[in-house]
Amino acid sequence: MVEFALPANSRVQNGKTHKAPAGAKKVKAFKIYRYDPDSGANPRLDTYEIDLDACGPMVLDALLKIKNEIDSTLTFRRSCREGICGSCAMNIDGANTLACLKPIEDIKGDAKIYPLPHMPVIKDLIPDLTVPYAQLASIKPWMQTQTPPPPDGERLQSPEEREKLDGMWECILCFCCQTSCPSYWWNGDRYLGPAVLLQAARWIHDSRDEMTGERLDALEDPFKLYRCHTIMNCTKTCPKGLNPAKAIGSIKTKLLQRGV
Ligand code: SF4
Ligand code: SF4
Ligand code: FES
Repeated sequence: MVEFALPANSRVQNGKTHKAPAGAKKVKAFKIYRYDPDSGANPRLDTYEIDLDACGPMVLDALLKIKNEIDSTLTFRRSCREGICGSCAMNIDGANTLACLKPIEDIKGDAKIYPLPHMPVIKDLIPDLTVPYAQLASIKPWMQTQTPPPPDGERLQSPEEREKLDGMWECILCFCCQTSCPSYWWNGDRYLGPAVLLQAARWIHDSRDEMTGERLDALEDPFKLYRCHTIMNCTKTCPKGLNPAKAIGSIKTKLLQRGV
């Protein structure tokens, strides 16, 4: 088995290896980032050899097998295992994606698994998402109205108005895009990032919302919005096939149209 070569000066060194059971025929190594800030120890990569004949098909199946059968201290988030909750987002084989949607067979060689990049780590594969969630709250991701709803029913949309939300309502807030964006890596304290801006766009384009002007005012800022340089990492990585860069562009277009 080829050993994953870490740079000699890396703070992340290879840790324990958990061997596959004797007689296993289809063995794959999972090299997983382990870090417990409370321990004071440097991060390490532990290796878990899994018999794929006794494991489900997705990376999340392997993580659950490791946690249930080999090492209960391995820590990660998951809930739905259907690509809906967004909680199992992590960096797998060099790309941010959802562990429950990533087939093991798509990974050539050893599977390398890290937390979402450029975020503080709470433990192992769990990033601290306090900042992006605060940024999400700042764009007020709910319908804001000033007029009362029709007395006899709900606020309606035409099919055309509803269609404008396609490509945005499907976002599961996994933050794969947010943490793949170089602008967010370097200016994450002031740039809102692709996931949050896609949510902002979702409400700006909602025909029922009555605070479009205020929403645009709040984004007209050199850092919050205009740090997007259309690098497109966000769109490339989204496990739901969405296009945050396009949504960001649509906010910029709205601002331009408003200015003329
Ligand atoms: S297009 Fe914008 S938001 Fe997406 S990765 Fe590039 S800079 Fe970040
Ligand atoms: S746009 Fe895609 S990658 Fe970004 S948070 Fe939503 S679902 Fe995740
Ligand atoms: S466990 Fe819910 S998206 Fe993966």
